[in-house]
Amino acid sequence: AEAKFPVAILVPGHFNDHAIGRIDRAFRRVRIERADPSLVTGEMREAVRGVASFGGINAAMIDALPNLEIIANFGVGYDSVDANHAARRGVMVTNTPDVLTEEVADTTIGLLINTVREMYAAEKWLRDGDWVKKGNYRLSRLTLRGRRVGIFGMGRIGLAVAHRLEAFGLPIAYHNRRKVEGFSYEYHTTLKGLAEAVDTLICVAPGGAATEKAINAEILSALGANGVFVNIGRGSTVDEAALAAALENGTIAAAGLDVFADEPNVPKALLEAPNTSLLPHVGSASDHTRRAMADLCVDNLVSWFGERRPLTPVP
Ligand code: DGY
Repeated sequence: AEAKFPVAILVPGHFNDHAIGRIDRAFRRVRIERADPSLVTGEMREAVRGVASFGGINAAMIDALPNLEIIANFGVGYDSVDANHAARRGVMVTNTPDVLTEEVADTTIGLLINTVREMYAAEKWLRDGDWVKKGNYRLSRLTLRGRRVGIFGMGRIGLAVAHRLEAFGLPIAYHNRRKVEGFSYEYHTTLKGLAEAVDTLICVAPGGAATEKAINAEILSALGANGVFVNIGRGSTVDEAALAAALENGTIAAAGLDVFADEPNVPKALLEAPNTSLLPHVGSASDHTRRAMADLCVDNLVSWFGERRPLTPVP
């Protein structure tokens, strides 16, 4: 049997089976229903030195665990972990970058084409029997041909999306806090500037206070009536009421969304908005990639407790 660290790892809520198996081989695992400080027992307070979690670790939860050394976040986005408070408390935070980059980029392209060519509605047409009853599905109003694409958030995933879009022959521009040296893509210093220059906006930006509701009515209206918005990043980045209104009023033409502000709840206005393809946060959700993320999440814990060296600490 593998050597076991004499350390307890807290796992709040649902967690990846593969990661659970690995945690159980290397550590003592304690679990609670959800990351709620009131569920932490006195015994847990003493024993827990690591947390493995699919997001959702706030300051109160960190403070409830005085011997906590590391939070291993399952996922590249760690906006739901209070990393600033963790840093103040000297708690290491790790995430799972790189291993999901290509998968999320694939999903993004799929969602873009699905949205623009109305595949979600065409499939419904077939399944509902309308092909037989009413004839061919209508011609899609939109096309990728001639589109100008803007990427909000040119990190690892944004770049993998851009590489794929190059093969489509579409011009690419981007907005980031900083210009990325060595890119040939057109840089815009503001999101508004980017939205004015393109008609297709793909949001890959991280969540958190810096991007909260950045995609608002003004940005959507800058995309124009032919505008398509795709979100693979975080729902918190979007003013969802403004987006639903923009779709309803024809301010933009269509939207493809994999993420929402209050998951798993999707606002009724978005469920009812026209020309919209909605996915239940599946960007990285293949068995292959979730296994790789699980391994990296647990490898961070093993490396920390073995060598005091996290593999992928957050900045
Ligand atoms: C991530 O890695 O951030 C994905 O959204 C899965 O949580």
